[in-house]
Amino acid sequence: MKIGMAGTGRMGAAIAQRLAGRGHQVTVWNRTADKARALGLPVVEDPAGLLEASEIIISILTDASAIETVYSKLLSGDVRRKLFIEMSTVRPETERKLADKVRAKGAALVECPVGGTVGPAKEGKLFGFAGGEAADIARARPLLDQMCRRVEHVGPVGAGAAMKLAINLPLMVFWQAFGEALSLCEPLGIDPARLMDIFADTSGGPNVLKVRGPAIAAALAGKDPGGATFNVDSIRKDLRTMLEEARALGRELPVTQRALECFDRAAGNGLGAADAATLPASWLRSQAK
Ligand SMILES: NC(=O)c1ccc[n+]([C@@H]2O[C@H](COP(=O)([O-])OP(=O)(O)OC[C@H]3O[C@@H](n4cnc5c(N)ncnc54)[C@H](OP(=O)(O)O)[C@@H]3O)[C@@H](O)[C@H]2O)c1
Repeated sequence: MKIGMAGTGRMGAAIAQRLAGRGHQVTVWNRTADKARALGLPVVEDPAGLLEASEIIISILTDASAIETVYSKLLSGDVRRKLFIEMSTVRPETERKLADKVRAKGAALVECPVGGTVGPAKEGKLFGFAGGEAADIARARPLLDQMCRRVEHVGPVGAGAAMKLAINLPLMVFWQAFGEALSLCEPLGIDPARLMDIFADTSGGPNVLKVRGPAIAAALAGKDPGGATFNVDSIRKDLRTMLEEARALGRELPVTQRALECFDRAAGNGLGAADAATLPASWLRSQAK
């Protein structure tokens, strides 16, 4: 299948590589062209260039403003009968407004924000929260199944975004909760790797500890936890998006609000581009007497 990828950041690059590895003809575009060129796939200079090369265009971009910028160029071309698969983590209304614009141009849009990070994206093991019309989802399904270990069609466009924000909330606040938990047992002087092993075997340890435990232990031991797969600035973006959505729904998210304040402080101390795994260690350092 001929696929266009708009945005080859960490996730877009991994997904493009995965689909190219499954035999698809993948053409890529990225605002910072060097990142697109590094993939060794055909590159176009402008988002609209993807339209000539592809039947299906996938986007996974930072936020609503990036979507606005990129789609204003994509939708300036002839998009009739194309299918767009939008995978960014944004508010439901962003996807709904975009779907309306896409439909008005004679094309279709499915949203499918994902759980899982760069490793699962490369292996086709994401969890997709799909929103859209049944016929459009059916068209996207063969590709979604190659990107994801599980795809749940949770409702019309916007439903996927709502689910993605919901599943990310406990994970995002976990990074703060875990720093606080460790502050209670830090005086015991237990080796960080052993601590991760203990927590991961209890109800106090979520799934992410199995994957990121070694990186968290490295950060606690004052070592380099490795490259960032999901950085602190991305967490702050997601928390702000959750809070905006909650305000629109008339709901309160006090724990989310406080976690954002703590992570804003970490970013103020230079951790914005660091991996989430550094947050518990950073909290412990901030508490040191
Ligand atoms: N990383 C993860 O583990 C993960 C997991 C699930 C979901 N997500 C979500 O997936 C999305 C992408 O995340 P990521 O980690 O891949 O981020 P990233 O590495 O920072 O990539 C962001 C992408 O958006 C592009 N972009 C940003 N602003 C733009 C603008 N104004 N105009 C055009 N392009 C713009 C970037 O282009 P440049 O390269 O030019 O900056 C890049 O291609 C986010 O919504 C994130 O929440 C991430």
